[in-house]
Amino acid sequence: MIQMTLNDKEIEASENSTILEVARKNGIDIPTLCYHEALEPFGVCRLCIVEVGGALRKGIRISCIQNVVDGLIVDTESERVKRNRRFLFELLLARSPDSKELIDLAAKHGVFESRFYEADSDDNCVRCGLCVRVCRDKIGAYALCFAHRGYDRMVTTDFELLSEYCIGCGTCAQICPTGAIKMKDEEGERIIYTKSVVIGKFELETCGKCGMPYASRKYLDFVKRNSDDAMAVSVERNLCPTCARRTGAINLVGQMTL
Ligand code: SF4
Ligand code: FES
Repeated sequence: MIQMTLNDKEIEASENSTILEVARKNGIDIPTLCYHEALEPFGVCRLCIVEVGGALRKGIRISCIQNVVDGLIVDTESERVKRNRRFLFELLLARSPDSKELIDLAAKHGVFESRFYEADSDDNCVRCGLCVRVCRDKIGAYALCFAHRGYDRMVTTDFELLSEYCIGCGTCAQICPTGAIKMKDEEGERIIYTKSVVIGKFELETCGKCGMPYASRKYLDFVKRNSDDAMAVSVERNLCPTCARRTGAINLVGQMTL
C-alpha cells in the first residue's frame, strides 16, 4: 500500500492501481470516454486528466494510464484541469455532435457547444478505439482497424470492404460511446455499419421455438467454440435469448456481452 493525497484527503491505495481506479474507489467522479474496465487503458480521449504534484513532477497527467506512487498529490478538479477538460470536450463535440452520451457528459462539465464544429466532421466517431480493441482483444475477430493518420484517422475494415472476419456479434456497436457504429436487424438480416463502411452483413438464424431471427451463424459457431458445454447445448437447441430465458436455458447474448 502507498500513502497519497486525493483532493486534499490523505488516503491509502494499492500501488498497482491507476489514479482513475483509486479515484473511483474513493467515490470521485472523473469523466472518461475511451476507458472500459474490461479492456487495457488506451489514453486517447484525455478527458480523465488530473493535476499531480508531490512525488511526481507537477503537471497534468492522464489518470487512466498513470499509476499512483507513494507521496503523490492529486487534484481532480483544479482550475487547470477544468479549463483543459472543457477544451477537450469542445474538440470531441466537434467530432461527434450528435452523440447524446457525449452531449450529456459535456453539459455536466459546463460545455454546451463547440467552437470547432465543421460540417464534414460528423461521423460521430471520437476515435476512442473501444470498438477496435474489443473486437481484437475480447472477441478475437480482428474485423476492425484504424486507417489513415491525424485528422483523417478513421475506424474501418481491411481495405474498407465488408469484413470477412466480422462474426456479427454487434459488440462494437454496443460498446461505442457515441453511436458511430450501428447495428440494424431487418427482415431477417443484420447489418453493422459506420457512416462510411458496412462492417458486416448477415442472414440471421431463426429461433427454434418462436421463429424470431436472432443471431448470425458465424456468431453461434463462435459461441459454441468458446463456451462451456451448457452453452454449446443451448446453441444446439437454437434458442433466441428470450426463449432461452423462458425455458431456463442459458441467455446467450447476456453471457457473451461485456
Ligand atoms: S466507432 Fe465508436 S467505439 Fe469506435 S473509435 Fe469511434 S467512437 Fe470509439
Ligand atoms: S479515459 Fe483516460 S484518456 Fe480516455
